[in-house]
Amino acid sequence: MKTFALPLAALALLAGAAAPHAALAQTAPQKATAAARDVAHERLWLGSAWYPEQWPESAWEEDLRLMQGHGANVVRIGEYAWSRMEPTEGQYEMDWLVRAVRLAGKYGMKVVIGTPTDTPPAWMTQKYPDTLQVDGSGKRLGHGGRRQFSISSQRYRAFARTIVTKMAEALKDEPNVIGWQIGNEPTDESYDPEARAAWVAWLKQRYGTLDKLNAAWTTAYWSQTYTDWEQVPFNNDKANPGWMLELKRFITSQWRAFHRNQIDALRAVIGDKQFITINFGGLGWANRFDRYDMNRDLDVTSWDDYVGMGHLKPYRNGATHDLVRGWKRQNFWVMETQPGFVNWAPVSNMLYPGETRALAWQAVGHGADAVLYWQWRNALNGQETMHGSIVGPDGKPLPIYTEVQQIGRDFAKASAALAGTTPVSPVAIVQDYPSRWAIDFQLHHKDYDQIEVLLDYYRPLKDALGAIDVVEAAEAPLARYKLVVAPSLNVITEATARRLADYVRGGGHLILGPRSGMKDEYDRLEPVRQPGPLAALLGGQVEQFYALDEEIAVGSGKASIWAEALSTSAPDTEVLLRYGQANGWLDGKPAVISRKVGKGRITYVGALVDDAVMKGLIDGALNDAGVARDFAVPEDVELMTREGEGREIVILVNHGRETREVSLPAAMTDVLAGGRMAKVTLAAEGVAVLRR
Ligand code: GAL
Repeated sequence: MKTFALPLAALALLAGAAAPHAALAQTAPQKATAAARDVAHERLWLGSAWYPEQWPESAWEEDLRLMQGHGANVVRIGEYAWSRMEPTEGQYEMDWLVRAVRLAGKYGMKVVIGTPTDTPPAWMTQKYPDTLQVDGSGKRLGHGGRRQFSISSQRYRAFARTIVTKMAEALKDEPNVIGWQIGNEPTDESYDPEARAAWVAWLKQRYGTLDKLNAAWTTAYWSQTYTDWEQVPFNNDKANPGWMLELKRFITSQWRAFHRNQIDALRAVIGDKQFITINFGGLGWANRFDRYDMNRDLDVTSWDDYVGMGHLKPYRNGATHDLVRGWKRQNFWVMETQPGFVNWAPVSNMLYPGETRALAWQAVGHGADAVLYWQWRNALNGQETMHGSIVGPDGKPLPIYTEVQQIGRDFAKASAALAGTTPVSPVAIVQDYPSRWAIDFQLHHKDYDQIEVLLDYYRPLKDALGAIDVVEAAEAPLARYKLVVAPSLNVITEATARRLADYVRGGGHLILGPRSGMKDEYDRLEPVRQPGPLAALLGGQVEQFYALDEEIAVGSGKASIWAEALSTSAPDTEVLLRYGQANGWLDGKPAVISRKVGKGRITYVGALVDDAVMKGLIDGALNDAGVARDFAVPEDVELMTREGEGREIVILVNHGRETREVSLPAAMTDVLAGGRMAKVTLAAEGVAVLRR
């Protein structure tokens, strides 16, 4: 390996707040002013990712003219252009970027600038291999792809800080730059020697003593006891779950510090004028790190809404938007979506005519204030020449252009009505990364998929309501919800247990799903049976859990994959459902128990039940919690609601292939077509935007 040009300590200083040991003690960075943040939400944004660095400057103007022609009002530029901005070490070329930004302004386009730190230039790889990622198997990555950098390399963070500073200096006064995106799609951590040192420093700060660490991870098991911090493993093996859970937290802190380094560099130059976001990518549910934590330093969050193979799955995609909205509990941006098709799916099929529009409106219905296509125009070579785009290699519109133009017309008409509105729900579903990790580490049943478990609850709730919130356990303001559902809250910290108990005592209705309350913060088994710290409040507990190798009877339906035999200990804890003939052990045992606590209620559901049983449970819970349903819509039609500034907006999308008629509870104003109506006809992939 090459020697360092600067001592590590000096690099750490350069990288400022990004020093590894600072990771635990993150203070809040400076944020954009409300005005700068509100720009992200002041209207509906439509645009695409544009790569002017891949084209002769003479082609730019026509690109922008065509963007304006389909109603675009924003472009994202820059996120892969490091080698164009710094062609050789220390030589910066930002003039082209400034010219591209200004030309975009001439065509009415605002700009989000992506920092290029996902694609370090080849000169850096060559000269400073220590900036490269080492994967979990110990292999150092090389050039030719992207994201080959190490998030833990202080030298890489120093380079990132410098390039971002240069960009900010060049663009800080450009009036049409409204925001910044840090890197693109955080994915892999690094296992290089610097990362290892940061890991040890992080552990020391978190635990103070090895005794504490050994106790938390129960290292007496299999003689894992550590007597020196350097003995603690650092790799991506499957090993002690307590250790694995902490590694996840460490990785989160490394990512956060990696981003924070750039956020602080930007803020030092741009002040609080423009918003800062991260594009969290297409795998909304991915759990490589804690996305709530990662979002705390941002003004706005964003993700990529890709369908991939097949067609839009309305519940799953809608729930993913709700998850993303819950990261910051505010509206978000769809920073990328497919203009018809992708290039990476097993079959990269085209969406149906109208489906791209339906996809855009579903996003808005769930709280997106921006929809940007990836990408405007394919590079003539490189890994993604087969991906869908809006114009072809000739720079002329492809067939999808007309549909994107329709979306442009829609957004222009609906923007004012939607500004300042957001989905508002009386119901929240709790999603928790430590619980996701803990269950995934020890699945016990190969088909136990926590996203599917969450969606089992989501579907009947969504059928009843125009908006559902998905929130974190640790900080969500629970008191605003009439009903809170925690489908798989396996890890319950003391603080979360208190919050949930307070919620119930304060009149809230809480439903816990199977596997809840089994583990503490360190992934240690609770010394009290499930739901551990909430068992006393419930007046009942789990006697035994069973992974099921066959369907069993529960109530009037079936349970599969997982079932727990429950018992009651308090006289007022009711049994809502029992198992029928089951596996012998479960026969006749309580499957769902519930206890009224003042005006509140706590319910424990011990099994993964079929749709009909779930619908019965959810209907009962909605009634009991006094949640008023939204009006009914026919099959395949999704009802979405946004409220704010005294406006109530209803968005209807027909995700099916048949025309559907929707009767409205009262006449509403049709924002897209004009006029007032009490009935709407939606063709396949049809959309209606209504004002109550
Ligand atoms: C995204 C990525 C884009 C592009 C796109 C293709 O994940 O951010 O740069 O690769 O996928 O679908």
